[in-house]
Amino acid sequence: DARIKKQRPPPLVVSRPRDLIQEACKHLSISDHQLRRIMQLMEKSMEQGLATSTKNVAVKMLPTFVDSVPNGTEKGDFLALDLGGTNFRVLHIKLEGKETKMTGKIFRVPESIMRGTGEALFDHIADCMAKFMEENNLKDATKLPLGFTFSFPCEQDGLTKGKLVTWTKGFKASGVEGADVVTMLRDACHRRKDIDIDVVALLNDTVGTLMACAFQENTCQIGVIVGTGTNACYMERLDRIPKLAGYVDEHGVTPEEMIINTEWGAFGDDGALDFLRTKWDDAVDRESINPGQHLYEKMISGMYMGECARVVLEDLAKQGLLFGGHSDAISVPHCFPTKFVSEIDSDLLEDDDRTFQKTYQILEDIGVEMITANDCANVAYVCSLISTRAAHLTAAGIAMLLNRINKPHVTVGVDGSVYRFHPTYPSLLDAKIAELIVGDIEYKLMLSEDGSGRGAALVAAVATRLKEEKLA
Ligand code: GLC
Repeated sequence: DARIKKQRPPPLVVSRPRDLIQEACKHLSISDHQLRRIMQLMEKSMEQGLATSTKNVAVKMLPTFVDSVPNGTEKGDFLALDLGGTNFRVLHIKLEGKETKMTGKIFRVPESIMRGTGEALFDHIADCMAKFMEENNLKDATKLPLGFTFSFPCEQDGLTKGKLVTWTKGFKASGVEGADVVTMLRDACHRRKDIDIDVVALLNDTVGTLMACAFQENTCQIGVIVGTGTNACYMERLDRIPKLAGYVDEHGVTPEEMIINTEWGAFGDDGALDFLRTKWDDAVDRESINPGQHLYEKMISGMYMGECARVVLEDLAKQGLLFGGHSDAISVPHCFPTKFVSEIDSDLLEDDDRTFQKTYQILEDIGVEMITANDCANVAYVCSLISTRAAHLTAAGIAMLLNRINKPHVTVGVDGSVYRFHPTYPSLLDAKIAELIVGDIEYKLMLSEDGSGRGAALVAAVATRLKEEKLA
């Protein structure tokens, strides 16, 4: 991938405002020493999560009840539902050997539904499903096994049951927290009477990502999402999960390992990240729909990265360091989405003449009044600090997991809009992981194609296969 290999150009000639801006932004750079501290703190948080009581821990470490990865023989027809980002998707997936055929449809989830009642949300989901099944002549087909990718923290006590712990990423539908989401989905289908479903697996998107990657690469042990939100799951040994002591599955077997959904987005919610959170991180958190929650995620993922850059720029403008002191336009919340950070970072990467055309265009479109060439260079500098920080924070998390797993070859399946579309994020992430791992570990980051869809079908397929094997 050419995009990943390109090197960041040398720093621009420093002008006077840049000096001041560098000084003002110095807390946005995280040293390797600090990253190693983060790794230690994160592992400690994870161990708390794996211990018996999980009620008051920041990092929940949720058992997923997925204890084996695909072996490549999975086949059949599956339905998958994918809820968790900006869109909701319904998919029909055919697995056969290494081939997957998918048809699907994307539906928007309007904000009124994200923040209305839980019933209305699940009615909307059932409605979209019915439309899809109608259009694809699936309504009369025998009940297809369904994998439900529900990308929020769920306390599961089996593969097909899970209570939502708390909403994240801007969702706030009432009456769902604490309830079993599979039951809510089934009830919604019963209410409309024309569709019947057979949910065989409820899973997080990170788990789908791990499974989709493991299908191709049997060394895959970690699944990571850096998209609207961020999270990771990994294969943990059962003897290191005290809260599952004595666990046997429905066939009386204790598995050797199980995928744990870390919900690392909530790392820092107990204060562990306070030593490097800035006043700007505080501002982003305060104005969010879930203040005090998911603080690591708010320093990293696509839902917040642009907003974080914006509050920094607003502050610099107010200090008179940008835009001739004009701060009105940049002060409008959410006027600077993460895709602007990506576009501006690619200006820095591709624009050899340093004309910052895209940057200028973006600032002008937002309505910034006075934009000088220096402003553009400085805005680009701020964006690169924010995205580099995000990549380095994620690298600390992944490196920690690699060190913990401590196997000679590990593949990390990664997906999400930030990883896919930000021009330098993947290479920054990779380079920093390499610096932070210890011992003889060889690792590889692999873009996991559509874990939420294909992965859901794979979890459903593995569940069906194991059930049949065990019955036989
Ligand atoms: C949020 C959710 C988590 C999900 C992640 C990526 O952090 O809490 O469950 O995996 O976003 O979508």
